[in-house]
Amino acid sequence: MMGVCSLELRGISYFFILFLVFVVSLGEGQNGCHELIRCGGRGQNYTIRFPFRLDTQPDLCGYPIPGFTLSSTHTNDTVLQLPNFVKLFVENIDYKSQVIEVYDPVHCFPRQLRDLNLSSSPFLFKHQPYQYDYAFFNCSSNETHYYHAISCLSGPSHEVRAFSSVSNINNLPIASCKKMYTLPSISYYQLFDYDNILRLKWDSPKCGHCERKGKDVDEE
Ligand SMILES: *[C@@H]1O[C@H](CO)[C@@H](O)[C@H](O)[C@H]1NC(C)=O
Ligand SMILES: *[C@@H]1O[C@H](CO)[C@@H](O)[C@H](O)[C@H]1NC(C)=O
Ligand SMILES: *[C@@H]1O[C@H](CO)[C@@H](O)[C@H](O)[C@H]1NC(C)=O
Ligand SMILES: *[C@@H]1O[C@H](CO)[C@@H](O)[C@H](O)[C@H]1NC(C)=O
Ligand SMILES: *[C@@H]1O[C@H](CO)[C@@H](O)[C@H](O)[C@H]1NC(C)=O
Repeated sequence: MMGVCSLELRGISYFFILFLVFVVSLGEGQNGCHELIRCGGRGQNYTIRFPFRLDTQPDLCGYPIPGFTLSSTHTNDTVLQLPNFVKLFVENIDYKSQVIEVYDPVHCFPRQLRDLNLSSSPFLFKHQPYQYDYAFFNCSSNETHYYHAISCLSGPSHEVRAFSSVSNINNLPIASCKKMYTLPSISYYQLFDYDNILRLKWDSPKCGHCERKGKDVDEE
């Protein structure tokens, strides 16, 4: 599996191939890489293979930059560690379209995404429908408001409300609310927990092409 992908990397990541050759020749005979099948508590199953590896597998099984190293919780959930100590659980990995789907075990993306800065990771947000910039306000809960509250950030005496950049300015709560922070490009679905899945894509290393080819060959 890894060999097939490595061939497709030529010209894209020449140094990586050099690195692999170097590591493989050092670690001769102790290549413990094999595809892992993970069965998640939500009934999903998916495989872990190059460019990802589990931290219990040898380094050379994965692409050698942070982000592609996954870990396991005591309940056998797979954890994707992102910058700023943001930890999300893996729902699925699509090696053909190079997309990893992650979810928040406590169902609060508005809080997780506040701390998430992907610029030092190999991942990018995959564009989703109904994606806007949102400003978050902390409001006392004795006021009535036009917009829904974010339940995971609200408490008995206060409600956190989110206003998108396309909201009517006249509905903005100026007096009774305190502005907290803004989030760029969060989908309405994740904001209100209608969809507890976040889709991240990676562009490098490019293995999607050979994944597709491999499948075509199998199907013939
Ligand atoms: C994974 O899921 C597929 C389809 O949902 C199923 O056919 C397959 O048996 C499952 N594999 C394991 C190891 O549970
Ligand atoms: C985790 O996976 C291991 C190995 O497959 C299994 O023995 C163990 O029972 C699992 N633990 C839980 C909590 O599912
Ligand atoms: C993310 O981090 C990079 C460098 O670490 C920084 O330049 C950028 O401003 C940060 N972005 C946000 C939205 O904080
Ligand atoms: C909102 O404000 C209340 C009262 O000032 C405070 O107790 C609460 O922690 C704030 N909530 C958030 C999410 O900042
Ligand atoms: C809501 O409560 C705040 C602080 O407890 C108070 O200042 C404000 O007047 C109240 N608003 C209404 C509409 O009762």
